[in-house]
Amino acid sequence: MKPPFQCPLRCPVCGAPLIPGEKMYGCAQGHPFNVAKEGYINLLLSHQRKSRNPGDDADMVLARRRFFDSGAYDPLSEQLCGLSVFNRPGPLAVLDCGCGEGHLLGALSEARDGFFLGADISKKAVQIASKRHRQATWIVANGMRQLPVADASMDVILSILAPRNLAEFGRILKPDGALLVGVPGPNHLIELRRQLQFSSGDFKEKADEAAAKCAPLFCEANREVLTYQTLLGREQIADLIQMTPLFWRSGPEAKAAVMQLDRLEITVSFTLLTLIR
Ligand SMILES: C[S@@+](CC[C@H](N)C(=O)[O-])C[C@H]1O[C@@H](n2cnc3c(N)ncnc32)[C@H](O)[C@@H]1O
Ligand SMILES: [Zn+2]
Repeated sequence: MKPPFQCPLRCPVCGAPLIPGEKMYGCAQGHPFNVAKEGYINLLLSHQRKSRNPGDDADMVLARRRFFDSGAYDPLSEQLCGLSVFNRPGPLAVLDCGCGEGHLLGALSEARDGFFLGADISKKAVQIASKRHRQATWIVANGMRQLPVADASMDVILSILAPRNLAEFGRILKPDGALLVGVPGPNHLIELRRQLQFSSGDFKEKADEAAAKCAPLFCEANREVLTYQTLLGREQIADLIQMTPLFWRSGPEAKAAVMQLDRLEITVSFTLLTLIR
C-alpha cells in the first residue's frame, strides 16, 4: 500500500485496524488472516455465510471471466472508466463491492492512480481476480453484513449488478465520496430473454427503482445509459446464459434450444448511476 493510503481493512473479529504483511494480516489483538497464494485475504467468518461456498459458483465465475475476455462488455468498462468521478485529480480509494472476477475494478486500476479494493462473497471470484490483477487488494467478505473496511475511507464505491448495503456504503464512504450503481438498462439482453421465453414483464427498467431505494442516504447526481448491439457466437451465448440468473430461471428445453444457436445479436444495456450525499 503506497502513500497517501493507509490500510483501510479492519479485523472482522474485533474491528481493530489490520496491519498488512506479506504472508499475513493481523490486528493488535492477534487475530491472524493468511494471504492466499493468489494474493487475496479471506476475511469472511464462518458465521457470516449461509453455505460453504456462498455467492457465484465456479462455473458462473469462469463463464463471466470468459465473457468479459471475449470483449463483449468492453464498452461497459470504457464507460465506467470515463465517468466524471474518476476525473478528480489525485489518487482515489475505490471499493468494488460484489466485484466478481474483477474485470471492472482491474480495468480502473490500470486506467488511473489509486488504491483499489475488491470484495466478493465468492471465494472463486476473488481467487481469479487476485491472480490476474496484482495491483489491487482483494478480499472475501459478505457485503450484506458489516464490511471489514474503515469508516470514511473510500472516495468511490462501485456496486455493479451486485447486492447493495446502503448503510455500510454510507459508513465507508468519505463525506464527499460517490456511490456508483450499475443496473441493467432498458431492453438489456431482450433477444436472449425472448429466446428463453420470458414474458415482457421481465424487461422492467431498474434504474428508477435503484435510485429510489438509495434515496434516504444518497441522491442521484448523474445517470448514463449505455446501449449497443453485439453479435455473439456459440460459446459467448453459452457463457452469457451461465453467468446470469437467466440460467436458473429458464426451462431446460428453451435453454437447450438457445445453446444450439451459432450466433445471436443481442442488445446490451446498462444504466450507471452516480449518487452522492
Ligand atoms: C452479477 S455478479 C457481478 C460481478 C461484477 N460486479 C461484474 O459486474 O462483473 C454479482 C456478484 O455479487 C456477488 N455477491 C452476491 N452476494 C454477495 C454478498 N452478500 N457480498 C458480496 N458479494 C456478493 C456474487 O458472488 C457475484 O460475484
Ligand atoms: Zn482482531
